[in-house]
Amino acid sequence: MSFKTLFQAIKEDHEEMYEYHDQYKRAREKGDVEAQTRWINQLRWEIARHAVGEEIVVYPLMEKHLGEKGKKLADHDREEHTRVKEDLYKLEGMQVSSAEFHELLTRMMADLHHHNDDEEIDDLPLLEPVIGETASKEAAQSFKQTKKFVPTRAHPSVPNKPPFETLVGFLAAPIDKLKDAFASFPTAEEKESAEKELETRDHDAAAGRAAGH
Ligand SMILES: [Fe+2]
Ligand SMILES: [Fe+2]
Repeated sequence: MSFKTLFQAIKEDHEEMYEYHDQYKRAREKGDVEAQTRWINQLRWEIARHAVGEEIVVYPLMEKHLGEKGKKLADHDREEHTRVKEDLYKLEGMQVSSAEFHELLTRMMADLHHHNDDEEIDDLPLLEPVIGETASKEAAQSFKQTKKFVPTRAHPSVPNKPPFETLVGFLAAPIDKLKDAFASFPTAEEKESAEKELETRDHDAAAGRAAGH
């Protein structure tokens, strides 16, 4: 049983995305296309499963507990997810080593960073006090469980019960196309260096927003 709150679980994922993106950029500077590809695969997988978890667990909670405001925030978040998914599609059709890939990825990550900050600044600070700490921790567990349903390689068999309909709806989008790309992931050594960096990573979304990012 994890004792993380939903905010902590979501923020932890966001930091992972930034870390993988940084690792990709470093590999690119070194001209190591294979390492770039591995980090991109890791990043795409993390974004995909994170989005699934939020769409199934977090946004419905906002709609349920935050009334009209929650519905609006959730709709806005889903729109932003759709845009990221569309970008993931486009990236899939490009060479990882190309300039256009890097440009689109850079833009997508900027959009995603803004979206993640919205969740950290607006959504979760509104939701958590309303549902309380215990429910937040339970939601964090559900979120983690849901993420496990996103496959690393094979396409899943089609499940037949809710809430999996939503998941399949999502999986029909980028993951289906990405499935073969999931064959190559960072090595244990590369993962270890990322984990070390994660220990000190602590992006302050509110301070960044105040500074105009
Ligand atoms: Fe999100
Ligand atoms: Fe998120």
